[in-house]
Amino acid sequence: MLGEKTKPTLEVQNLTKIFSSGVFIRDKVTAVNDVSFNMYPGTVLSLIGESGSGKTTIGRMILKLLKPTSGHIYYLGKDTSLIKTKAELREYYRHVQGIFQDPFSSFNPLFRVDRVFDMIFDVFLPEVKNREERINEVLHSVNLNPERIMHQFPHQLSGGQLQRLLIARALLLDVKILVADELISMLDASTRMGVLNLLVDLCKEKGMSVLFITHDLALGYYISDYTMIMHRGRLVEKGATEKVYKNPVHPYTQMLFNSVPDIGHRWDKNEKFVPEKVNDDIQRFYQDNRGQGFQYLEPDHGVLLSVE
Ligand SMILES: Nc1ncnc2c1ncn2[C@@H]1O[C@H](COP(=O)(O)OP(=O)(O)OP(=O)(O)O)[C@@H](O)[C@H]1O
Ligand SMILES: [Mg+2]
Repeated sequence: MLGEKTKPTLEVQNLTKIFSSGVFIRDKVTAVNDVSFNMYPGTVLSLIGESGSGKTTIGRMILKLLKPTSGHIYYLGKDTSLIKTKAELREYYRHVQGIFQDPFSSFNPLFRVDRVFDMIFDVFLPEVKNREERINEVLHSVNLNPERIMHQFPHQLSGGQLQRLLIARALLLDVKILVADELISMLDASTRMGVLNLLVDLCKEKGMSVLFITHDLALGYYISDYTMIMHRGRLVEKGATEKVYKNPVHPYTQMLFNSVPDIGHRWDKNEKFVPEKVNDDIQRFYQDNRGQGFQYLEPDHGVLLSVE
């Protein structure tokens, strides 16, 4: 992928997650299968795929909320599986944060906004003296009025305000990697654009790297420098957004793009949108390209040509 000159902030190598469920018969689900990618400073990387393809599982492994079955995640060259002590974890979370689909669940309903910020300072930034100044600064940068919101409880704020608050929190912590999982899916169209533009601006300004998880191809195109397409736990295509969108090669990517009649269309997450035919197409594609595995067909554009 692009950015060979710049060092990646985060490297994901051969990441696999197998879930076992069932009490008597152990059912195994390979949620993430041999996934590798890099994240570079000041770039947005989107991760696109159908429901259940493993997107959130990748995000949760980066955030150390789940342990990989195999594979590695390196943050600034350091293997994150070696981060063990509380102090090391705290340091990691100063720089690696997540924003999830439901902003309400990210806040304790009993804590007012000022208390939330106090806790961030107590836990992560005890050395900072000018707390109020810093808070005002980050709230202003996400277009929130400190006087109006500091004494509110989470339920008194809108979804858009809460998500902007989460972005403000990330800014306060000087986040280098932000996992934004379905960040804006519950916002109305106008708020959505505001939050998105804010995110992109901050990403470029601060050299932050964003993993933008979404179902929405149009949104992915709008926001991201790089795109990864995920199908059943595997990355089937990845590269510079322009190249992947202009010249999709994997049958699954082609099907996805064909199922969007025009930019701006958004499909229903619960709708079964994968036509049966695509699975046959994928099998044939892998057969025809047997033995080739993942290949770069042009610079910054790679495709999974076969699975062995
Ligand atoms: N804790 C868990 N235990 C068992 N299976 C799980 C667990 N978490 C996820 N899975 C399974 O792993 C697969 C991938 O789930 P994941 O949540 O990563 O998908 P997703 O791409 O984020 O989907 P969506 O777009 O619906 O959010 C699914 O088959 C899911 O059922
Ligand atoms: Mg998910």
